[in-house]
Amino acid sequence: MYIATKSIIDKDKTKVVADVIMPKFPQDFLNKIICGDAVEIMKQIPDGRVDLIITSPPYNLKNSTGNGMKDGRGGKWANAALQNGYSHHNDSMPHEEYVKWQRDCLKEMMRLIPEEGAIFYNHKWRVQDGLLQDRQDIIGSFPLRQIIIWKRKGGLNFNPGYFLPTYEVIYLIAKPKFKLAPKANAYGDVWEFTQEMRNEHPAAFPVSLIDRIISSTNSKIILDPFMGSGTTAISAINFKRDYIGIDISPEYCEMAENRIKQRQSKMTLW
Ligand SMILES: C[S@@+](CC[C@H](N)C(=O)[O-])C[C@H]1O[C@@H](n2cnc3c(N)ncnc32)[C@H](O)[C@@H]1O
Repeated sequence: MYIATKSIIDKDKTKVVADVIMPKFPQDFLNKIICGDAVEIMKQIPDGRVDLIITSPPYNLKNSTGNGMKDGRGGKWANAALQNGYSHHNDSMPHEEYVKWQRDCLKEMMRLIPEEGAIFYNHKWRVQDGLLQDRQDIIGSFPLRQIIIWKRKGGLNFNPGYFLPTYEVIYLIAKPKFKLAPKANAYGDVWEFTQEMRNEHPAAFPVSLIDRIISSTNSKIILDPFMGSGTTAISAINFKRDYIGIDISPEYCEMAENRIKQRQSKMTLW
C-alpha cells in the first residue's frame, strides 16, 4: 500500500485505499511510493540524503502555440490519454508559472543530493511561435554538465516548417564530485531507446533507458519526484538499489505499486 498525504478513497467511495500520513525520513520514504505534491514531499527529506535523482516532469504540453496537444492533433505521445492531461494534472500551466514551478522542483532536488550526487532531468524541446523552446529558462543557472540525446523511434508533429523531431534531452545536472561508474563513459551521449508502448501511463519511460542511467552510477538511493507508473523504481530494483517515488496521482501510484509487486515476485522466483 502506498503512502498518501491526503485521504484517498476507492472508486466506490467505500474505503480508504492508502495510509494517510505526512511521511518521515527515512522510514516512510525508502522503497516507498508516496502520493502527494513533489515539492511538498521533497521538503520532508533532509539535505544531501539522496544519491541520484532521475525524473521526467510534465512537459506542459497542453500549453502550446500549435501543432501540439492543445488541438488534439497529437504531439509527444501517440497516446490519446495525454491529450486530456494526466489524471491529476492538466499539463496546461501559463508558461512563466510552469518555469517557476520546475525551477522550484530543481532547487529542491539540488538540496537533496550530496557533493557526489546528480540529477538526470528529462525534457523535450519544441517549436513555439516558430522558434525553438529549448528549456534554457528552466535549467539555466543549475550546474549543467552534459546534455544526453535520447533518440526515440519515429516521431509525431508533422510540420512543414521544420524536420520531424525524433529526440528528447536528458540534462545531466551534477554536483562537483559526481563520477560515473567504471566504463559507463563509453556509452557516449546519444542513446537510442524505443519509447514505452505497453504501459497504461500516458508518458512512461522505457525501463531500458533508466537501466542505462542507474547502471552507469554507483548510487544507492534514487529518487523520482514524478514517478508516474514506477519505472525508476523498477529499474532501481533491477540493480538492487533503494528508491523513493512521488506522484500526485493516486491512479499512477497504484499502477507503480502493482508493477513493483510483480517485479519483486519475479525476482523472488528467480
Ligand atoms: C512524464 S510523467 C512521468 C512518467 C514516469 N517517468 C513513468 O515512467 O511512468 C509526469 C508525472 O508527473 C506527475 N505529476 C504532475 N504534477 C505533479 C506534482 N505536483 N507532484 C508530483 N507529481 C506530479 C503526473 O501525475 C505524471 O505521472
